[in-house]
Amino acid sequence: MAGPTQDALYAEIDLELSWSEDELPQVERTKYVHSLHPYLGKYIPQLVEVFLKRYFAPGSRIYDPFVGSGTTLVEANVFGADALGCDISAFNCLLSQVKTARYSLGELELALRGALEGARRNPGATTQNVTPWLRQWYAPGALSELLAYREAIERLEARHADVARVILSRAARSARLTTHFDLDFPRSPTTEPYYCHKHKRTCRPVEEAWKFLLRYTTDTVRRIRQFASVRSDRDVAVLHADSRNVILPSQPTGVITSPPYPGLIDYHEQHRYAYELLGLRDRRDEEIGAAAGGRSRSALAAYVEAMSEVFDNTASQLACDGCVLIVVNDSHGLYPAILENAGLILEERVTRHVNRRTGRRKGEFFEDVLVCRAA
Ligand SMILES: C[S@@+](CC[C@H](N)C(=O)[O-])C[C@H]1O[C@@H](n2cnc3c(N)ncnc32)[C@H](O)[C@@H]1O
Repeated sequence: MAGPTQDALYAEIDLELSWSEDELPQVERTKYVHSLHPYLGKYIPQLVEVFLKRYFAPGSRIYDPFVGSGTTLVEANVFGADALGCDISAFNCLLSQVKTARYSLGELELALRGALEGARRNPGATTQNVTPWLRQWYAPGALSELLAYREAIERLEARHADVARVILSRAARSARLTTHFDLDFPRSPTTEPYYCHKHKRTCRPVEEAWKFLLRYTTDTVRRIRQFASVRSDRDVAVLHADSRNVILPSQPTGVITSPPYPGLIDYHEQHRYAYELLGLRDRRDEEIGAAAGGRSRSALAAYVEAMSEVFDNTASQLACDGCVLIVVNDSHGLYPAILENAGLILEERVTRHVNRRTGRRKGEFFEDVLVCRAA
């Protein structure tokens, strides 16, 4: 590991990770590309920022075996480190790639406006050959607009098309037949007017997607521009793979990650619309700790085995003396065994109080930061 910087020495005396809403308002937690697309279960960028300053130096190579929406990669890049991420979810890889790719900003904006224009000139895209799921979750007009945009994207060059796919997915999320207050976990389509807890009045299910495509195109360009003004030219790579057995293309000097918790979130299912619309490869069978697998004794045992494999595989490819930072809510007390199985030694444990990590859920929520090193 590279030696500590001046900032790191300062951070050592002042490791405060439980920010209140006033200290760390939403606008800061969602700055630049961090909120390019909704994602349930990510950590806040400021946490990664503190870790980087405390445990690493610019020029390090940081690996995240559960890259999710790419928070680690984005912050590592701003810090001046190379970054490497792996995820089993194709959509999460797409999102991380789009956030961290370098663009010619003028060309990107022109391409995205061109895609909107192309879709607007072709509003009658056929909804005949779509999956039953799409037909069930969208009003016909909204679906037709999403499909017209999808067709227009095909004419863009690959890097621009990927950005447009993220815009399409975000618009598809907003345009589902669901209530305004249940965008995270809608169980069944809402087709009739309903009383809206968010707006305190009767609302109607969405019937169009166009306004979202327009709004998110503008927002995406703005966020990518903001990121371009703070980013470094360090390398970023994203691997669509299972972190239990992935072979890394280069040796990381450290790890910053937050693994999935057992039985809490289905990471593929939360972006189902993206898989349905973009035809992404579904690898949910390889997702560790998926909510669908529950929290039975055997599910927890499988989780320990899978996580042990991930951290063993990670540690075996890490530079000598590399630092491994794991953010977990270990309410089942599984991590002592996982660390031991993977040959990691716990050097420090910091507990932090989390605010609003997972949308509309109630109650107090704590998580630990495990600071480890390979044995
Ligand atoms: C808690 S989230 C990570 C969130 C991330 N820290 C962020 O800020 O966006 C856990 C991630 O682990 C991924 N995952 C689950 N099983 C995996 C596996 N076998 N290999 C790689 N990634 C996996 C999920 O797809 C999910 O994106």
